[in-house]
Amino acid sequence: KVNGIEFAVADLSLAEAGRKQLRLAEVEMPGLMALRREYADSQPLKGARVAGSLHMTVQTAVLIETLVALGAEVRWVSCNIFSTQDEAAAAVVVGPNGTVERPSGSAVFAWKGETLAEYWWCTDQLFDFGDGRLPNMVLDDGGDATLLIHKGVEFEAAGAVPQATEEDPEEYTLVLRTLTDSIARDAGRFTRIAKEVRGVTEETTNGVKRLYKLAKDGELLFPAMNVNDSVTKSKFDNKYGIRHSLIDGLNRGTDVMIAGKVAVICGYGDVGKGAVESLRGQGARVVVTEIDPICALQAAMEGLDVVELDDVVERGDIFITTTGNFDIIMADQMAKMKHNAIVANVGHFDNEIDMAGLAKIPGIEKIEIKPQVHEWVFPATADREQHSILVLSEGRLMNLGNATGHPSFVMSNSFTNQTIAQIELFTKQGQYATDVHVLPKHLDEKVARLHLDALGVRLTKLTKRQAEYIGVDVEGPYKLDHYRY
Ligand code: NAI
Repeated sequence: KVNGIEFAVADLSLAEAGRKQLRLAEVEMPGLMALRREYADSQPLKGARVAGSLHMTVQTAVLIETLVALGAEVRWVSCNIFSTQDEAAAAVVVGPNGTVERPSGSAVFAWKGETLAEYWWCTDQLFDFGDGRLPNMVLDDGGDATLLIHKGVEFEAAGAVPQATEEDPEEYTLVLRTLTDSIARDAGRFTRIAKEVRGVTEETTNGVKRLYKLAKDGELLFPAMNVNDSVTKSKFDNKYGIRHSLIDGLNRGTDVMIAGKVAVICGYGDVGKGAVESLRGQGARVVVTEIDPICALQAAMEGLDVVELDDVVERGDIFITTTGNFDIIMADQMAKMKHNAIVANVGHFDNEIDMAGLAKIPGIEKIEIKPQVHEWVFPATADREQHSILVLSEGRLMNLGNATGHPSFVMSNSFTNQTIAQIELFTKQGQYATDVHVLPKHLDEKVARLHLDALGVRLTKLTKRQAEYIGVDVEGPYKLDHYRY
């Protein structure tokens, strides 16, 4: 803690370098900057204490400073062990007007390359705003902060945190340990947090799935805003963001020539569609796998071969998982791949690729080529000589682990939704039921509108008669809620 600001970052002296990047990012984030101007006087987030868990990148730094500009107090962690940009984390702590000696920004607990134990320690730091003050808003990406609160409340009610069993994955064991320590320090803490929190705004597909499950099981403890399913989020960030950052990660990680290679994209949802374009744009020969007949048909109509993974496992050069599901590429399939085939994931969690199974193959060797790039060497067998595959970011989000995630402009769309969602849930307490909501369409349209000028887009204005003819208001919304874009 320095000058009243608590933090745990890699190196505070990186703040100046971070600030330079923030300055550039602000120009590319017109939605967030417009909200800063719109709400400069009214300060709708005054009194909000936002616990944020979302990749601590340069773009997120601009989001954090926007929330602060709207009146909020913020504590932040990354939602992934590799995704922090250390200079952005430092810049947020130092703040726009502080110095390294006298930081005056926000509390951040994040650095690139956390261990999983450190990750959960950081997440637990989110909930103590000092002087016994608790968060009253959560901003989440993937739902880990929300998970900790919900599990904490469950175990407080049960009177004990269960012991981890042998079968529990390492990560759940760490969650249980974090909760044990946290509740030992302050029993009843999570129950009080859950009472205090007015709502959570969730960034990504996987986190949203967790929220709908909690709501369906009657276990959701506060209202939730599904930011992912704003059209201006999932149809932009998931698709155009990945189109940009997937090859960025591949290039920085491996610099392998993409043209001509056979690339296998597992999953043809929003992220998968962006991934396909990313690699096709480089001249890769792309095939996809899908379980959903609609998405599979879409892929075929786009001229893509839709295959089963086993059909191409020996032919593919680059394998990318985008499903949000688990056990997509298994160890025995990786063993059959070409020498130096690249295997990487851009889905939210690291269980799409069977990393645990890979490590258990007898005689396998893991060589670090550089951080977040590993060669796994399979021993020679009777019918095959020694060969390797390259795994990026240890199977975690490679566009954030090997590169710097999506670029500012597309994240401005996502984060303008986040900020508006925070304002909605914070200022309209009691108006949103304890359920999962999406932003009303006029706000979704507003997010898009805020990004048009920067691209020189000239929107055609509907006449009153035209508006009546198609049954909408001149000012929008222009589509019915079920329209799919
Ligand atoms: P989505 O639901 O639109 O797409 C996932 C697709 O995978 C679906 O079409 C589904 O049918 C398919 N799928 C599921 N199981 C499969 C299997 N066994 N084999 C083949 N296909 C399968 O979800 P979306 O929005 O594309 O997100 C996917 C993942 O990416 C989520 O985990 C999300 O949180 C994450 N995400 C990552 C980002 C990044 O920057 N890396 C950005 C946005 C989302």
